[in-house]
Amino acid sequence: MNRSALEIAPLAAAGETLDPKSWDETRALAHRMLDDMIDYAATIRERPVWQPIPDVVRAQFRESLPREPTDLGEVYHTFSEFILPYATGNVHPGFMGWVHGGGSVVGMLAEMLAAGLNANLGGRDHVPIEVERQIVEWTGQMFGFPPGASGVFVTGTSMANLLAVLVARTSTLGIAARQHGIAGEGGLLTAYTSKAAHGCITRAMDVAGFGSDALRCIGVDRSDRIDVGALREQIARDREGGRKPFLVVASAGTVDIGAIDNLVAIAQLCREERLWFHVDGAFGALGVLSPALAPRLAGIEQADSIALDFHKWGQVPYDAGFLLVRDGERHRDAFAAPAAYLRREVRGLATGTPWPCDLGVDLSRGFRALKTWFTLKTFGTERLGAIITRCCALARYLQGRIEAEPRLELMAPVNLNIVCFRYRSEHADHVNGEIVVNLQESGIAAPSTTVLDGRLAIRAAIVNHRTDVSDIDSLVAAVLEFGARRSSALEHPSRIAPRLAV
Ligand SMILES: Cc1ncc(COP(=O)(O)O)c(C=O)c1O
Repeated sequence: MNRSALEIAPLAAAGETLDPKSWDETRALAHRMLDDMIDYAATIRERPVWQPIPDVVRAQFRESLPREPTDLGEVYHTFSEFILPYATGNVHPGFMGWVHGGGSVVGMLAEMLAAGLNANLGGRDHVPIEVERQIVEWTGQMFGFPPGASGVFVTGTSMANLLAVLVARTSTLGIAARQHGIAGEGGLLTAYTSKAAHGCITRAMDVAGFGSDALRCIGVDRSDRIDVGALREQIARDREGGRKPFLVVASAGTVDIGAIDNLVAIAQLCREERLWFHVDGAFGALGVLSPALAPRLAGIEQADSIALDFHKWGQVPYDAGFLLVRDGERHRDAFAAPAAYLRREVRGLATGTPWPCDLGVDLSRGFRALKTWFTLKTFGTERLGAIITRCCALARYLQGRIEAEPRLELMAPVNLNIVCFRYRSEHADHVNGEIVVNLQESGIAAPSTTVLDGRLAIRAAIVNHRTDVSDIDSLVAAVLEFGARRSSALEHPSRIAPRLAV
């Protein structure tokens, strides 16, 4: 090597690190960013829930690759002008679509701290891993799981359900299945869930290699709870046909109407049939924190595994999905794999096995545990449980408003925090689809839609801790207003309905 190749200018002199040139200027800007985001949360009601994205805004994100640096203040200005006002809107109390959590300022601050630490929670011996282990322990306590239980943060419940299918597979077929795949006996494995279950269960069966045909979607009762008798019969039929039942996925809060399956009966059935009992509790599982709801989740404590999202009713900022597994050894059996570069030691940084990378498919992972830890510590589970209770009370209030209003129709029982309803009209599917789009574009409220028994429904999922009676009243008033205008426009096409002001 010639001498000139070894002559490297000191980093600082070359200005080559990514640290700020002026720490003071960066500090001042950082304080402004923090103030702005606190103001954003504090004044959230002054803004529309959501607003359509103008072309000029979208165009900001069609730029070519930035080869040259841009001043941080300028980048932040672009954020303030073009990103902040056009977010999904789930921080807003009027957001009621798709079961989104509202987050909190506490979670936001924790995210900043986590980013500052820049910890990789794949493994190794550092306190961020202990924080994740603390959450595993706390979550185990919430559900009455034994001390050997294990858990892992993932993006969301879709991923947690996929991991659960893989744990159930390895538990049934043995660790050799990880090497040989699911050919032979594995190809006969059959899983069960209800017709009302979330689509990610089907996808998990597909991605895990079983194929979606290996999932039996059992019928439901009028409240969308799985028909346990039909489940039992299907399992018997499948055994007779030579298939190998291995897994039941129960729902603790279905996505459409928040139904909770009979978890006690399913636990009993799984015990008798020696099947893995998994609960998809994406949002409903945290109902155990609400004294009013907890009894309806009886049986969840007997699950072999539970998938849930702290980013929904837990009010932790996105994303914070979680898988809890009763038997930690089975959890590790499904994923732990030796690798020379991940060797565990008895001293130094590479100690403290098992590592989270032994409990899922991710190696590099962020510090999701910190925002969850801050949220649980700062608010306490009683307060979070009270918010869950209140969301359900608001759903019942909305139900009452609908039942008292002849122009509205309730479309499904109100099980938890989700209310499905619609404006009565000859052209109800069309009119209600329009109502929802108009509501979203008006910025007054943002419910979503679903289809129940082939009929389109307005679906209001009340998840946000900021949502209040006034938000429900605004939703009802706007649905009636838009419904009347749309119906009238259909009857008298020449009249053009003006948009409601925010
Ligand atoms: C019952 C149920 N299961 C699974 C999911 C998927 O969760 P995620 O979006 O966190 O992946 C949802 C999402 O709302 C859900 O309601």
